[in-house]
Amino acid sequence: MKLPIEIRYRPYQEWSEKEKHQIAANKAKSPWLTTFHLEPQTGLLNDPNGFSFFNGKFHLFYQNWPFGPAHGLKQWVHTESSDLIRFKETGIKLEPDHPHDSHGAYSGSAYAIDDKLFLFYTGNVRDDHWHRTPLQIGAWMTKDGHITKCEQILIEQPDDVTEHFRDPHIFDYQGQFFAIIGAQSLDKKGFIKLYKALNNKVHNWEFVGNLTFGGTGSEYMIECPNLVFIDGYPVLIYSPQGLSKTELDYNNIYPNTYKICQSFDTKKAELRGVSDSQLLDYGFEAYATQAFNAPDGKVYSISWIGLPDIDYPTDPYDYQGAMSLVKELSIKDGKLYQYPVPAMTSLRSTPQPLADLATTTNAYELELEIPANQTSELLLFADEEGRGLSITVDTATGTILVDRSHVGETYATDFGTKRHCSVPASDTKLNIFVDKSIFEIFVNKGEKVFTGRVFPNPDQSGIKQLKGQMSGSYFELVL
Ligand code: FRU
Repeated sequence: MKLPIEIRYRPYQEWSEKEKHQIAANKAKSPWLTTFHLEPQTGLLNDPNGFSFFNGKFHLFYQNWPFGPAHGLKQWVHTESSDLIRFKETGIKLEPDHPHDSHGAYSGSAYAIDDKLFLFYTGNVRDDHWHRTPLQIGAWMTKDGHITKCEQILIEQPDDVTEHFRDPHIFDYQGQFFAIIGAQSLDKKGFIKLYKALNNKVHNWEFVGNLTFGGTGSEYMIECPNLVFIDGYPVLIYSPQGLSKTELDYNNIYPNTYKICQSFDTKKAELRGVSDSQLLDYGFEAYATQAFNAPDGKVYSISWIGLPDIDYPTDPYDYQGAMSLVKELSIKDGKLYQYPVPAMTSLRSTPQPLADLATTTNAYELELEIPANQTSELLLFADEEGRGLSITVDTATGTILVDRSHVGETYATDFGTKRHCSVPASDTKLNIFVDKSIFEIFVNKGEKVFTGRVFPNPDQSGIKQLKGQMSGSYFELVL
């Protein structure tokens, strides 16, 4: 939602208790609140931040402007989880209360070092002429949740970038800390800078080089880059704004992409044996994905189910955005797989065989199998008139089509109401998670993913098989 700068950048302490109460009360009236996906307490949720493991728990912050469905003065809001499916807000926040983050504590990452969690993030600073300077800064969080900001700027704005230089991702590679940061060059091309922690101390960063990753530079900015290592393969995950559609076919305003690489030369800042860009998600919204190599040997990721510069039907209720399920990343036959953590099955109630249902709680998982040489169509969020979210699986051609044009309140229609992807032409498995106004469809246990939102009418909660064969189970999910 477009709101004037004076409102979006109004200091937090100027918002009265009454105003805050009204904002929270308005959100509580929404018919679309989710049950097992994380949503903001109030206002707008965007990027996942500081996703990490520390002090025996997983930690996840979210980018937030707490006063409405707009991008304003951002803070990080802390949540923690022991199972990666229940995230509880703790009340801890990284607020924009320092001269180095005066206009927003922008996105970043976290890493447990000794007995503290190091938060590495971008301070968004504007002067009186609204000129922006991005600063890479840090903070330490203790085990009892006390946050102390580092007084020094960790990385200043280099000469070869515009005001768009942000989202440091810290990672350990062979015992050495590195960070990659999204950047825009002076001729407005997106690129990524690689830094190394001098003597492995995270308050002292040395520039290594601009990362070579086979990018064409067709994007004008790269946001939220992450480098994770899956079975030793470096996988670069990033959000390229303005990426040319000849480089990658996509429909969302901005895509979220990845490249699987063969090796990483830290001295030359070079990823080698890099695959083409691939879409991380084939649905309508998944952005700013954050991933990390966890101490349990797994690689976890989580995405913002939302996009920049889009109005949502929840805006009149003063909130916007949700987090995806946490996905475990793996590589099989050279392909990236993303699949919800195994603990998700603990939310399942007794299975029922797939059948048409006039109404459901719109909080369930479907586990389906579509035989080869079929064109099968399924309708979720279905009403009596036969409208709903249509999923068509053609196992003869290997095509999956998702059409949300007939569910409740539509939005972002300029970017189309259908999405598709290709899969091997063979029998196909689907695991579909539905949560009130969110769907996450995992094809063949994570070979392809469609994430998106729909905002159904009150009578849209049914399931209908429209065409072809399919079989499987329905599980109501309760957190
Ligand atoms: C991506 C992004 C980041 C930035 C943050 C600000 O959605 O634009 O690049 O740090 O959001 O909220």
